[in-house]
Amino acid sequence: MNFSVTDNHFFKETSLLKEEKKGIITHRSPSNIALIKYWGKHGVQLPNNPSLSFTLTNAFTETKLDYQTKNETESKSEISLEFWFENKKNEKFEQKIRKFLESLLPTQPYLGFVHLKIYSQNSFPHSAGIASSASSMAALALCLCDLEKRLLNTLQNTEEFYQKASYLARLGSGSAARSVYSNIPITTWGKTDVVKDSSDLWASPYTLPIHDIFQNYQDTILIVSAEEKSVSSRAGHALMETNPFAKTRYELAHSNLQKLAFALENGDTDTFIEVVENEAFVLHALMMCSSPPFILMETGTLTIIKKIQAFRRETNIPICFTLDAGANVHVLYPNKYKKECLDFIDKKLKPFCFEGKYLKDHVSNQ
Ligand code: DP6
Repeated sequence: MNFSVTDNHFFKETSLLKEEKKGIITHRSPSNIALIKYWGKHGVQLPNNPSLSFTLTNAFTETKLDYQTKNETESKSEISLEFWFENKKNEKFEQKIRKFLESLLPTQPYLGFVHLKIYSQNSFPHSAGIASSASSMAALALCLCDLEKRLLNTLQNTEEFYQKASYLARLGSGSAARSVYSNIPITTWGKTDVVKDSSDLWASPYTLPIHDIFQNYQDTILIVSAEEKSVSSRAGHALMETNPFAKTRYELAHSNLQKLAFALENGDTDTFIEVVENEAFVLHALMMCSSPPFILMETGTLTIIKKIQAFRRETNIPICFTLDAGANVHVLYPNKYKKECLDFIDKKLKPFCFEGKYLKDHVSNQ
């Protein structure tokens, strides 16, 4: 399945060349934080293990796509694009998006029939060092699917629409596959026995039972560093190809996902914490034993981790952390301990944050 529209009869019969069509499409996509990490890929953006993430609420990207069909004389084998980020024309992002759209052109030829103007903005500050590729690629992919729907009258089925959006988002950035579903608390991507009909090609909503304790779960994102990462995720994934622990890692992801599903169903916060922190440590350990090795944690990251673990021991509050591919720390805790945890974060962790910055977020509600 590659969601190609090349042979689609709609495309052959389309009146795209004759009839002018224009319009505006907008989509908002949430950020996500992986609990089971995607780290290592093969083929065209296919994951080497399944991943699972919480969908966030306050951190999102909003993308507006302004389209107009080209006239008969204009080339249909070229992408026509202008890209604005946070109300300013952004050449760097434009180049990246152009490359992405060009890579889609052979299977999504309708992209060559339109002039595209894309306006994108994040709800979180760009300088916060928070990866926005997941939410931005997801919002863009949803816009593209809507464009296809309007131009070719395809993707009428909602499930197919979202699967294709997730498929396209994945081609832009793997973790983006999990960000096309707003208002879905948990998403998984990648083939696993735990989730029926799971696929490496697209992410899907997690439909297994989730205990009440995980409803409205809190995620406070501590900004430890706002600098651009020294090693990109793309380069990090590539280093898994020669990582001596790769095979063990991929097996561990499967068993951790199984354990996590049990914890989510039974409200077992001990197992949840064991799995989530293990995934974060393993991710960064893999970076440290790649060749060449690299470290994305900062001193503040480790200090914060130790303080969270000590606070948990002292109070028995089931607070824990996870990390993405960077120095920032996601602090996870049940909603019912929000007051105590925010108080702890403000008093004890804030001093280790870059400019005292942190963002309060929580898992999306259905
Ligand atoms: C550690 O999705 O950023 O956040 O597919 O190369 O764009 P590309 O990588 P990306 O990798 C995310 C890695 C991670 C784990 C995760 O989100 O699952």
